[in-house]
Amino acid sequence: MGRGAVLRHRPVAFRFKDAIAASNAVLIATPEYNGAVPGVLANAIDWASRPTGRSVLRNKPVALMGAVLGQSGSANAQAALRGVLGRIGAIVVPDPQVLVPRASRLFNEQVDLHDEGTREEIRQLVEEVAHWCRRVQPEEPVSTQPVTAS
Ligand SMILES: Cc1cc2nc3c(=O)[nH]c(=O)nc-3n(C[C@H](O)[C@H](O)[C@H](O)COP(=O)(O)O)c2cc1C
Repeated sequence: MGRGAVLRHRPVAFRFKDAIAASNAVLIATPEYNGAVPGVLANAIDWASRPTGRSVLRNKPVALMGAVLGQSGSANAQAALRGVLGRIGAIVVPDPQVLVPRASRLFNEQVDLHDEGTREEIRQLVEEVAHWCRRVQPEEPVSTQPVTAS
């Protein structure tokens, strides 16, 4: 990214980092692009990773889930994210893994998830996130404020 683009995106990146800093945990839901992490998500994590050693993601519980049109269920993207987030010092919630293949079958026309098995996996993942929040910050109340990159 050139210097002009960096300066243009700074306010958004700082809001994103502030939102992460104010959160008990982060839940990332990702698709998979060509067997990898979508560039926009990778870029957002790169912003949040700085300054080195003092990232807002450091010691922050981060959970992953993903849905794709193909067979992988986003396993490749999630494996790559685990590596990057571990490198930054985030606490990546180990399980359950929520990998959703052939996702177009599982949503209705309003894009509501109607598959009960997948809903149950997501419920368990959210419970696990709350568990890790209590482990990392036993005194903190657990908030449910959504964080987005927009
Ligand atoms: C550039 C691009 C590459 C993609 N590559 C894959 C892929 O390798 N495997 C897969 O299952 N889905 C792939 N998809 C589909 C996405 O994983 C995803 O299911 C779909 O794009 C909907 O999510 P989105 O609206 O956030 O892009 C790709 C989509 C795009 C736009």
